[in-house]
Amino acid sequence: MEAMDAILTRRSIRKYTSDPVSDEVVTQLLKAAMSAPTAANQCWRFVVIRDRNILQAITDFHPHAEMLKQAAVGIAVCADPTLEVLKGRWPMDCAAATENILIGANALGLGACWVGIYPVEERIEGLRQLLDIPENVIPLSMVSLGYPAERKVPPARFKPDRIHRDRW
Ligand SMILES: Cc1cc2nc3c(=O)[nH]c(=O)nc-3n(C[C@H](O)[C@H](O)[C@H](O)COP(=O)(O)O)c2cc1C
Repeated sequence: MEAMDAILTRRSIRKYTSDPVSDEVVTQLLKAAMSAPTAANQCWRFVVIRDRNILQAITDFHPHAEMLKQAAVGIAVCADPTLEVLKGRWPMDCAAATENILIGANALGLGACWVGIYPVEERIEGLRQLLDIPENVIPLSMVSLGYPAERKVPPARFKPDRIHRDRW
């Protein structure tokens, strides 16, 4: 799929088939994540979750993560802010990495959805305990992944009135 098509047709997919997602595909998505721009010294860390019990347990403390019960894989996108050169940039780095995973997933024919973790304390601590994430590391998001069992048409979202040229 062309890069622009992968961006323009990406939607949040929350229903998946039972087809497995290979380690090779996950590695490609992690390469996409690590190709994102970074102001925070590549301080991201990733936890790849295939254990069904763990994916299910996330729904115990996250009210909008039901899709993880069907997902073949979840990727927790985390940061170690102690590694930052420029302080306070890690959320942007992790967000850019998360978006690259979502676009890469669409390009490879997978369905994916951003599951928000940061800055909700209950979700951060829930994931920390479940995945044994150390104190110096903060999870920003989860991405749920699987082969899509639903199709969504991209809505018309382009809003010319939101664009200012040269001056506001
Ligand atoms: C920071 C962030 C957090 C999100 N958290 C969740 C979430 O917890 N659960 C969920 O189902 N979708 C979540 N989403 C996905 C949005 O609901 C979705 O992107 C939005 O409704 C637009 O739909 P689309 O992705 O299909 O274009 C999140 C998206 C972002 C950017």
